[in-house]
Amino acid sequence: MNSFSQMQDKVRDVLRRDRTFNHTIVEENIFLQGTHSVHHNTLDASHGPVLYLEDVSVSFDGFQALNKLSLYIDDGELRCIIGPNGAGKTTMMDVITGKTRPDTGLVYFGQTMDLTQMAEHDIAIAGIGRKFQKPTIFPEHSVWENLELAMKTDKGVWHTLFTVLTSEQKDRIEEVMLIIGLQELCYARADLLSHGQKQWLEIGMLLMQDPRVLLVDEPVAGMTHQEMDRTAELLTSLAGKHSVVVVEHDMDFVRSIASQVTVLHEGSVLAEGTMDEVQNNQKVIEVYLGE
Ligand SMILES: Nc1ncnc2c1ncn2[C@@H]1O[C@H](COP(=O)(O)OP(=O)(O)OP(=O)(O)O)[C@@H](O)[C@H]1O
Ligand SMILES: [Mg+2]
Repeated sequence: MNSFSQMQDKVRDVLRRDRTFNHTIVEENIFLQGTHSVHHNTLDASHGPVLYLEDVSVSFDGFQALNKLSLYIDDGELRCIIGPNGAGKTTMMDVITGKTRPDTGLVYFGQTMDLTQMAEHDIAIAGIGRKFQKPTIFPEHSVWENLELAMKTDKGVWHTLFTVLTSEQKDRIEEVMLIIGLQELCYARADLLSHGQKQWLEIGMLLMQDPRVLLVDEPVAGMTHQEMDRTAELLTSLAGKHSVVVVEHDMDFVRSIASQVTVLHEGSVLAEGTMDEVQNNQKVIEVYLGE
């Protein structure tokens, strides 16, 4: 087994990757901007979108990565974002998660949380979870332990794995394991999972934080067709309870989750609608043919 300090390093590595952890959620039902006292239950999305981007611009050394981008994501919706390479899709996620600050524009989570004023860590705590393309799991730990660690990493791996879980915590792990379809691999080491199973485990780890919004960048890259179908089912099943924003290049996959599609091009929205609508949109056809 690894030494305690090696395990601590892994925990730190996960923390660096914008992860959210329950231990950091304070119990008070308050939101104080600029402090650590944020709680996703304070989100007010009662009169509008859960995510609200208006006229957002970002430039890198004069290059306009986002150009007056406006995007509205409703509570519980599943939205796919497509667009050619360099369209600004990842930059858009970076802006939502506080990794990149916009030069101009509004970025709100619900009605009251100005994401441009919040630290990355606080945005994650407030309920925006992000899945990166490379899974960040604990390879030497089991599926169950990975979910457990995602739940309460504050105590350190050692302490977490030797602390007795409450029945609610066990129920939540069971529930998430069922959602991601890994219940039969409960005791399997994470590094022995297939590529697809690792991706689902990471989605499960995000779910342990109970995020209101899940941002998923290119989830099916490198997956088999079967894994892609399962991922489509999984993401579709998460919508409703969570808002799910999926950036993906694979058009068959986007079609299979049959959601609203937003096409980005040169940092702004080129078209929005169903997959059929955007695929028949003349501007979209021109952009993709010109690639
Ligand atoms: N930190 C940065 N510094 C300089 N330029 C950047 C930076 N991040 C992104 N860019 C540029 O901004 C543009 C938009 O990049 P972004 O990664 O958002 O595109 P994307 O739509 O995610 O593309 P892909 O489909 O290839 O992932 C690209 O031209 C990219 O080179
Ligand atoms: Mg990208």
